[in-house]
Amino acid sequence: MMDRYRTIIEPFRIHAVEPIRITTREERLAAIETAGRNLFALHADDVLVDLLTDSGTGAMSRDQWAAIQHGDESYAGSPSWFVFLEAVTALWPFRHVIPTHQGRAAEKILFSVIGAPGKVIPNNTHFDTTRANVEASGAEAVDLVIAEGRDPSALHPFKGNVDVGALEALLASRGPDVPVVFVTVTNNSGGGQPVSLENLRAVRAVCDRYGKPLFLDACRFAENAWFIKTREPGQSERAIPDIVRDMAALADGMTMSAKKDGLANIGGWLALDDDALAESCRNLLILTEGFPTYGGLAGRDLEAIAQGLREVVQDDYLHYRIRSTAYLGEALDAAAVPLVKPFGGHAIYIDARALLPHVPALEYPGQALAVALYVEGGIRGCEIGTVMFGRQPDRSERAAAMDLVRLAIPRRTYTQSHIDYVIEVVTAVADRAADLRGLRIAPPQPVALRHFTARFLPIT
Ligand SMILES: Cc1ncc(COP(=O)(O)O)c(C=O)c1O
Repeated sequence: MMDRYRTIIEPFRIHAVEPIRITTREERLAAIETAGRNLFALHADDVLVDLLTDSGTGAMSRDQWAAIQHGDESYAGSPSWFVFLEAVTALWPFRHVIPTHQGRAAEKILFSVIGAPGKVIPNNTHFDTTRANVEASGAEAVDLVIAEGRDPSALHPFKGNVDVGALEALLASRGPDVPVVFVTVTNNSGGGQPVSLENLRAVRAVCDRYGKPLFLDACRFAENAWFIKTREPGQSERAIPDIVRDMAALADGMTMSAKKDGLANIGGWLALDDDALAESCRNLLILTEGFPTYGGLAGRDLEAIAQGLREVVQDDYLHYRIRSTAYLGEALDAAAVPLVKPFGGHAIYIDARALLPHVPALEYPGQALAVALYVEGGIRGCEIGTVMFGRQPDRSERAAAMDLVRLAIPRRTYTQSHIDYVIEVVTAVADRAADLRGLRIAPPQPVALRHFTARFLPIT
């Protein structure tokens, strides 16, 4: 019956509210100056609509809060561990599940074991923490997304797909140096773009030819599965959990941040089939995170994630989720704001390089735009561009493939009127984009992940 109407409603009612503090432009100008024009350094009370990340910022459901009360904090063999294990393996039936406090802890453990100088790890696009963990091990992180995935305006239903030819060429030339092939679903740094089952099958076939394991960075697996269901031929009648299990069957392992499609505020895991590798990873887990039946998590977190995994694969949730992201994208598109298209699952990405053509990449157009959105309307987005990726391991600097501002949408958190306000603010800033100026990083530069801590000065 609902299909007769255009509006896709939130499939929930609000059960507890959090106040938002309304700020003035003057207050925001002062706050951003104090923060060194780095949006990560703001006090979150000074933010009106926080689109910095969709990671860990979503609202949990009534049933997740109830699950928290079931949390059992036994040090070893907690019932909550078994609830978690069952929920994870119902979707991802890998032999070993290693719980971590978040995704990067899983990455750190895995790459500490399999990464080393001289090794190379291909991915469609490494996320920043993934790249940082690969490089911290001494290995090289190589991005092999298809050409359309590097072009913000190219239309392709699966812009996160791996360039299979490029992967094959890499394995042919450096096969012995490649310990694992990674695919990120959805491809966050490339615009939240999905990867098709067909592409995963092709990647699997190449991995098989070269005897390489395939791992998924599966943070947004449910959103990826929804895109498969709605865009890939022959998938429309299939249940989301079945599509997820197909993705799992093509892989040998995964890293996961439960802060995304775990619908939780903390958590993650590493899962894999290889017994020997799992043992090495568990040894590190015990050193850095905790005992294998809780890893980096409390029993209550394990319960909340298990319930989140049951909710995230529901059609009503995913339909609303993907539709509400597209709602923001369509309105900004209608206002002629240059965007990465088609719209990704968890965020809308503004093409700052296109909007600010007068600001060179090395003067960080994405950062300049993100700062302007904050000052104008208290909206906190995130630069995904030359600030985040421009610094090379040898400390030189070059323009990233794209300069984007990501407006990430926390799950089940903001209403349509919040998003209507965002649309107005972004449109107002875009209308005076020609007045925006670039930025430079105040010395000394942070050594790693500089986007978290760098301070910026205006270029006058
Ligand atoms: C694709 C991708 N991989 C890995 C991570 C790292 O996860 P976490 O923030 O839980 O450490 C993120 C987080 O944003 C991500 O988007």
